[in-house]
Amino acid sequence: MDAKIVIVGCGISGISAAHQLIKSGFQNVRILESTSRSGGRIKTGRLGDKVVEIGANWIHGPSEGNPVFRLARQYGLLDPEALTPENQAIDCGGTPVWVPNFFSSSGRRLTLEEYMPAQEMFDKVLNESSEFASKGGEPTASVGDFLRSEIQKQAAEEWKDVDAKTRSLRLGMINNMLKQQCCINGTHSMDEVGLGAYGLYKTLPGLDCTFPRGYEVLIKNLMSELPSGIVSYNRPVRCVHWNNTERGEKPVMVECDDGEKFSADHVIVTVPLGYLKKHLSALFCPPLPLHKQHSIQRLGFGTNNKIYVEFDSPWWDDGCEVIVLVWDDEDEIVDQVPDLQRSWLKKLFGFTVLKPTERYGHVLCGWIAGHESEYMETLSEQEVTHCVTQLVRRFTGNPALTPRRVLRSQWFHNPWTCGSYSFPGKLCSAQDLENMMEPLPSKGSQAQPLQVLFAGEATHHCYYSTVHGAVLTGWREADRLISHYSSSSPSVPKSNL
Ligand SMILES: Cc1cc2nc3c(=O)[nH]c(=O)nc-3n(C[C@H](O)[C@H](O)[C@H](O)COP(=O)(O)OP(=O)(O)OC[C@H]3O[C@@H](n4cnc5c(N)ncnc54)[C@H](O)[C@@H]3O)c2cc1C
Ligand SMILES: *[C@@H]1O[C@H](CO)[C@@H](O)[C@H](O)[C@H]1NC(C)=O
Ligand SMILES: *[C@@H]1O[C@H](CO)[C@@H](O)[C@H](O)[C@H]1NC(C)=O
Ligand SMILES: *[C@@H]1O[C@H](CO)[C@@H](O)[C@H](O)[C@H]1NC(C)=O
Repeated sequence: MDAKIVIVGCGISGISAAHQLIKSGFQNVRILESTSRSGGRIKTGRLGDKVVEIGANWIHGPSEGNPVFRLARQYGLLDPEALTPENQAIDCGGTPVWVPNFFSSSGRRLTLEEYMPAQEMFDKVLNESSEFASKGGEPTASVGDFLRSEIQKQAAEEWKDVDAKTRSLRLGMINNMLKQQCCINGTHSMDEVGLGAYGLYKTLPGLDCTFPRGYEVLIKNLMSELPSGIVSYNRPVRCVHWNNTERGEKPVMVECDDGEKFSADHVIVTVPLGYLKKHLSALFCPPLPLHKQHSIQRLGFGTNNKIYVEFDSPWWDDGCEVIVLVWDDEDEIVDQVPDLQRSWLKKLFGFTVLKPTERYGHVLCGWIAGHESEYMETLSEQEVTHCVTQLVRRFTGNPALTPRRVLRSQWFHNPWTCGSYSFPGKLCSAQDLENMMEPLPSKGSQAQPLQVLFAGEATHHCYYSTVHGAVLTGWREADRLISHYSSSSPSVPKSNL
């Protein structure tokens, strides 16, 4: 088929769309990518000689229904445990239960018994907050508002007999859980996450697993199956001119920063939502319909970064999978720090421990979201190292602890991403995700159909913010074109294709 298709962005969604189109016989497919590499937010790096992920980390819900799991299995990229039926059957509702170690800011280890009352209260209220989406209520409130008021209410009743010190320790624990949610949802504060849409996100069964040789090996495998030369690198797209009605010309013309122009019958746009928000007015000519613009504004796109820290020897227990850092001097429920310069690192909820130890040695991955995370990106690596060193010394009470190496991600200042991943903001509903994926021109128009299509993580109605969501959106838009051509070609009945 010789329809001319341009794909903007060579992340996993763009690659998936290209794959599907080529497989179905489209010969005129080109990917324009702003950077010099493919993979986008799938990016594997090195900490010394250790393989670490700068971007996506896990396959969330690795089981039969997950396309990333099926691809990774097909290419032989997973550890044997990840492939077992037992692993695929584990259903933890998206939150794996990790073995924790708790440390407090006064340098004391906390026990699980001390932590449980706060954890149970938080889990219960968080669970209640995901029920609003199906009920269709509370469109203006945020998850943060709801959690705060419910926890305040319950704490006043259930913890009325505990002493002041224990109370503020428990509030510190609650705040830690909020900061953790900020990382999971990729938001500055849970006050920005819409309560009415909180339950839209769906999980798949399977215990989250990683790629032992790095997530980018998946990209390498997929790229090796595409025709060579299909990607033009270092080619930022500046503007998608659509709805051209001049006779003898293609309906769409893609203009690059360097002035080069590509005409096309169809363009699949896969740029991240953060980029789209920032460049919306310049990227489309004519501009997107208003309902689409509003959905782009309502959906949230925040920052979650990692700070990898390597130590010569562990200061956590054998078998510990997550290190939780609790500030014990907090007497309010908050997930934002008052003073970025002085206390940005308070936003870091803790570290996950890279496993297995034989592969990684003693490497921790710290997680930090929000404006505090964006501020961290502006500091030098030495400054970040200095602050992290002070932090672990304080929480362990061991003044001799010194990291061997530190490496952090900087997704907010990446000009082609402008953050990490999307979440439904306040006022968001399922309709906004529908609007995100709607192709142009809108239904009912007399113009050429399917001129501009939209794929990428932020266009999936229930798997947004994930790699499998991104893959499915690439396939979805390719399928949209494939079925368009199979149903609009009168000589070939659809059933024969
Ligand atoms: C820190 C972090 C951790 C994550 N962890 C996980 C995880 O554990 N599991 C999981 O499933 N997901 C995770 N994700 C999310 C996952 O990485 C993304 O959802 C997914 O990779 C997005 O793919 P995409 O194709 O939609 O976008 P991208 O990968 O961002 O691809 C978009 C491409 O468009 C290019 N581009 C941008 N602007 C232009 C332009 N103007 N012209 C041309 N090209 C342009 C970009 O350079 C990029 O290559 C994580 C993300 C981050 C940042
Ligand atoms: C959340 O609540 C539902 C009922 O509303 C219940 O079935 C489910 O088990 C709860 N989950 C947790 C983790 O408490
Ligand atoms: C935020 O993360 C939780 C998992 O802890 C998930 O249940 C929820 O749907 C997510 N919400 C958004 C908006 O991503
Ligand atoms: C696109 O072109 C059609 C037909 O020429 C026209 O009716 C429509 O208004 C145009 N749409 C936009 C957004 O310019």
